[in-house]
Amino acid sequence: MTETLPILYVPAPILRQKAKPVAAADQVRDLADRMLATMYKAPGVGLAAPQVGVGLRLVVLDCGPKDAPAPMVLVNPELVAASEELAVREEGCLSLPGQFADVTRPYRVRVRYLALDGSKQEVEGEGLLSACLQHEIDHLDGKLFVDYLSILKRNMLLRRLAKDLKAKARDD
Ligand code: NI
Repeated sequence: MTETLPILYVPAPILRQKAKPVAAADQVRDLADRMLATMYKAPGVGLAAPQVGVGLRLVVLDCGPKDAPAPMVLVNPELVAASEELAVREEGCLSLPGQFADVTRPYRVRVRYLALDGSKQEVEGEGLLSACLQHEIDHLDGKLFVDYLSILKRNMLLRRLAKDLKAKARDD
């Protein structure tokens, strides 16, 4: 079994920092494996390196159907195109456990990235994959899904999270 990593919760400062480019893609293979194991265990559909305390531009995701695992590892991902068409989708985040809200984003995006072997790749996604790609790339720029909400809604959600995490700490 690959060892999992502890997931950081809001307000961990690294979640608000811009992550640095990965210098050599093949050097984050172990980290990517552990991030995938952490994501599947959570369970979640995406995880960015800052969420496990590493300030590098690396994300893992799996937005496929549950019975057909399709893990993806994206090194230094970059959004290169986004549709004008928008879509609303309920999002959550492993760094804000138990909190969900509707977020509006481009329906379709194209992302350029490096694979672990250093090769240049592109992926085009719509629907869940599109939202997932955008959500994870946001993490690399210190951005969270709550930033898309009204201040009122965001504060309500963050207060609820703080309360939940405090109750959880008490129970543990
Ligand atoms: Ni997230």
